Amino acid sequence: MDFKEKIATLLKKYTNLEKDEILNLIEIPNSEMGDFAFPCFKLAKTLKKAPPMIANEIAEKIEKPDFIEKIEVVNAYINFYINKAIYIESILNQVLDKKEDFGNSSIGNNKTIVIDYSSPNIAKPFHIGHLRSTVIGNSLYKIYKKLGYNVVGVNHLGDWGTQFGKLIVAYKNWGNKELVEKDDIKELSKIYVKFHEEAEKNPALEDEARLWLVKMQERDKEALELWKWFCEISMKEFERVYKMLNISFDSYAGESFYNDKMQAVVDELFEKDILVESQGAKIVDLEEYNMPPCLILRSDGGTLYPTRDISAAFYRKKEYNFEKCLYITALDQNLHFAQWFKVIELMGYDWAKDLVHIPFGLVSLNDGKLSTRKGHVVLMEDILNSAIEKTKNIIEEKNPNLENKEEVAKQVGIGAVIFNDLFNSRVKNVVFDLERMLNFQGETGPYVQYTHTRACSILEKENFTLDMLEDIDFSLICDEYSFELVKLISLYPEKIIDASIKYEPYIITRHLVNICQAFNKFYDENNIKNSDTNLKKARLAIVYATKNIIANALYLLGIDAPEKM
Ligand code: ARG
Repeated sequence: MDFKEKIATLLKKYTNLEKDEILNLIEIPNSEMGDFAFPCFKLAKTLKKAPPMIANEIAEKIEKPDFIEKIEVVNAYINFYINKAIYIESILNQVLDKKEDFGNSSIGNNKTIVIDYSSPNIAKPFHIGHLRSTVIGNSLYKIYKKLGYNVVGVNHLGDWGTQFGKLIVAYKNWGNKELVEKDDIKELSKIYVKFHEEAEKNPALEDEARLWLVKMQERDKEALELWKWFCEISMKEFERVYKMLNISFDSYAGESFYNDKMQAVVDELFEKDILVESQGAKIVDLEEYNMPPCLILRSDGGTLYPTRDISAAFYRKKEYNFEKCLYITALDQNLHFAQWFKVIELMGYDWAKDLVHIPFGLVSLNDGKLSTRKGHVVLMEDILNSAIEKTKNIIEEKNPNLENKEEVAKQVGIGAVIFNDLFNSRVKNVVFDLERMLNFQGETGPYVQYTHTRACSILEKENFTLDMLEDIDFSLICDEYSFELVKLISLYPEKIIDASIKYEPYIITRHLVNICQAFNKFYDENNIKNSDTNLKKARLAIVYATKNIIANALYLLGIDAPEKM
């Protein structure tokens, strides 16, 4: 039973509004004000009366159906109180029936969403900014899947461009094959940093680097072999990180994938008279739109980051026919996306409006040990490992007899990092503070995972089995803690949809914390162990339902839900 829907149907009889309008207006008030509230402001215009008066008049007229316990008017609001037993029974039966499918929807209708996320640059370390893109993208991926979309996850690897020319020069001058093979990305980063130091003293190195890039473009054998080798070395590191995060992609078509697809775009821009020459380079002038020009071709004919993005967008439109294509990067790329989205619009493609940049804020490190000193490379892998290490110490201290400690330390340590990243609105800056993330009492990943294990252990202690879910008498449950918990559970499906509309996984993260807090209250206030058989069964059903929701929400965030920790 969808109570909001039922109330809207009821209100439709007493107002001149459409049902959808009413649905949009209905609010969820603070619990002391009822379960649903309908504000009457909107009716004031047509009825030409004060909103509180309208509220009173409607409330008096309404014939109260069984599922409503009472109706109260507060100012311009009509507040509805749902009958607790009916409510609890209805919601829990849905959750118990659908299990991990609770919250699934078909609103996606199999339409395709392409998500471009993670997308690190080859030969540079996988840094915290890429971590953010990776976990936000991964969560959105799972959210859209749950809502019935066809989702394509693309890792647009930065595997082409000027950095390779520089790296080749660096390797030829100061590289050592064995060291690179042994220390992989760290060694590559080191010589890359050295290139920049040396180039300051000796600008000729920059010219050399440009020559190597041209050689790559001309498919010179040596240049391409080195390029491929650098890519392989980087990919090994990236794959290790993705494995730790348990993340995979549907496509790894990176920037180099578009090498043979850019000419067509350049030609089309040219034919459509959008490309102009400026100091030898080819640009799209965007002055009219208050933006600096979008660079398409350098004076030496070389392509650029926007050229590749434009080509990639055409390719994706053709290949996937997306409803939307999302790009998850740091805020500082706002201009880049605004520029080339505009170029596609100027080319006359109305799907330019379906390209969406999803920006996120910066990460700052609070831990001195992790901060980047010049020439000292901080790898994401090392940071994740230190989260796991710290978690291991906590487990050693609190629960030394736990089985599979290694595995749990990984689930909790990594989970804590992901949770922290998805706890606030994307654009807010994130502070990377391992101590705080791993605090079991805070609003953290470990707290949520711990609540999940708590639910698991209650079920285990009471020898819960699925056939106990037959014939439960939910009318025995009438305390407000159970009611609060069930109410939050019932809101879960809406939160998923809201998160998808706003591209904000934190909506799920926050709701999950609320559910965990309500669950822990419910558990502290209700003595399950000593309840009578039937009441115990009903309460265990609530525990079971909550456990499923917690695990499901964690899954949507990309976090594991261990059963013991
Ligand atoms: N490689 C880029 C970077 O590290 C991010 C790429 C984002 N995706 C895109 N299609 N531009 O900054």
